[in-house]
Amino acid sequence: MAGADGVPWWRDAVFYQVYVRSFADSDGDGLGDLPGITSRLRYLCDLGVDAVWITPFYPSPQHDAGYDVADYRSVDPRFGRLEDVDALLARAHDLGLRVVVDLVPNHTSSEHVWFRQALAAGPGSPERARYLFRKGRGPGGDRPPNNWESVFGGPAWTRVDDPTPGSGSRGEWYLHLFDRSQPDLDWRNPEVPAMFEEVLRFWLDRGVDGFRVDVAHGLFKVESLRDQRGIPAGGGDLPSDREERSMVAREARDEPMWDQPEVHEVYRSWRGVLEEYSGDRMAVAEAWTQTPQSMARYVRPDELHQAFNFAWLLAPWSASAFADVVRGTLAAVAPVGAAPTWVLSNHDVVRHPTRYGGGSRGLARARAATLTMLALPGSAYVYQGEELGLEEVDVPPESRQDPYWFRTGKVGRDGARVPIPWRGTRSPYGFGPRGASPWLPMPDDWAQLTVAAQRRDPGSTWSFYRDALRARRRVARDGDDVELVEGRSTVLHLRRGGLTVLCNCGTRPVRLPAGEVVLASGRLERGLLPPDTAIWLV
Ligand code: NOJ
Repeated sequence: MAGADGVPWWRDAVFYQVYVRSFADSDGDGLGDLPGITSRLRYLCDLGVDAVWITPFYPSPQHDAGYDVADYRSVDPRFGRLEDVDALLARAHDLGLRVVVDLVPNHTSSEHVWFRQALAAGPGSPERARYLFRKGRGPGGDRPPNNWESVFGGPAWTRVDDPTPGSGSRGEWYLHLFDRSQPDLDWRNPEVPAMFEEVLRFWLDRGVDGFRVDVAHGLFKVESLRDQRGIPAGGGDLPSDREERSMVAREARDEPMWDQPEVHEVYRSWRGVLEEYSGDRMAVAEAWTQTPQSMARYVRPDELHQAFNFAWLLAPWSASAFADVVRGTLAAVAPVGAAPTWVLSNHDVVRHPTRYGGGSRGLARARAATLTMLALPGSAYVYQGEELGLEEVDVPPESRQDPYWFRTGKVGRDGARVPIPWRGTRSPYGFGPRGASPWLPMPDDWAQLTVAAQRRDPGSTWSFYRDALRARRRVARDGDDVELVEGRSTVLHLRRGGLTVLCNCGTRPVRLPAGEVVLASGRLERGLLPPDTAIWLV
């Protein structure tokens, strides 16, 4: 059912990503939880978002912060109970907010009952056939079955012991494109799609409005599981190494583990399931595909509704790079009739103020990029804490939790996952009860960045986000056509309907075109648009 204007709610919605561990801790165990989220939904309404995407809260050993699911139809006691999901959905719907939950179909946790059964049952069993177990290569099968690397570093295979009692010998290997605690499922086995269809229905029956599909491009691998040709290891899901992830590098890459054609059949069947339910239920793919064109295949009319568009998040601070992103994205989705999506930060990447150089300049640029993004057609995803202008935190090595950090020694993702400061002058800044230690340490200098402090200040980043979201409802709804206006190479200049947007990525102030100012991301200088600033005019 579409809205009164015939447009389904998700098409131009602003989604707020709640990273469950770090949003609000109601019980003082240092981890955010579902009742914590429910208690803050009013806050999200005040900010002006339309929907909430909640990262995984299912039972999990938490080796990858919940993206290692041990039971798809329950709630980890650390985050609450099933009744807390019901309460959250009821409150959100009362407030007019939609709720999207995370679905992790590429892999289970090694503690999922299926994987335990697979280990116990041994080679050749139907239990092992739900995963990708293979014999090793070389004498004694001591080498992994192929040369694939895990996205988190190191081989994508782990060897298990032979389960025959007393044999004491080593057995088969299983594939894990991520951590060894995240075995990949074999989607060619009909039991796997059947199980996930039940999972979809379980949550749809409870009333969720949609799903964010984790590693949506990964479910099928080339059937032979052949070696990856001619390239160094890695890649596919996390933009940990930005050079390696440039489109040019990735387009040329042989990727037998990603983006196989068979995956689209799964999404066609899920679309059918979603359409059996009323209320425009939707799904958004997390698909790190090689090109915008391959991304668009996930959002054909009979597949998923949206796919994250990571192009902007990988682009440097540059008007021409931004223009390429806008042009490329719109051109890719137009032939399939899908709405674009835009995102600048999430729990897997360095926060955008830090990416743009940090400090006051990084923040100014981040606000400018955000204002530009919010003017575009389609929907936008905002990551918790970006409305506070939070920067990446330098988490001390002894506090780090990310498996990527442990497997590669590279900085990893904890710095973007530090809990949200709500109020007060000292950690945990109202994230949890006083005296409770948050799961990642919160910086000592966040007193000015709390929600409470920023709500009082009309010039704060929080107030800017609220104003921008309000203004978006008023003036950024005018059709899907965007005109990129040729002009200075350092200024992104675009028009959408009656709205004109300028984003000054250069080093000099620029003159404004005619029009009435709706909102600027920073102060104007004697009527000129300063560097690192964006503006909307009508
Ligand atoms: C993408 C998720 O966003 C990330 O956090 C996770 O580690 C991987 N998928 C594996 O599930």
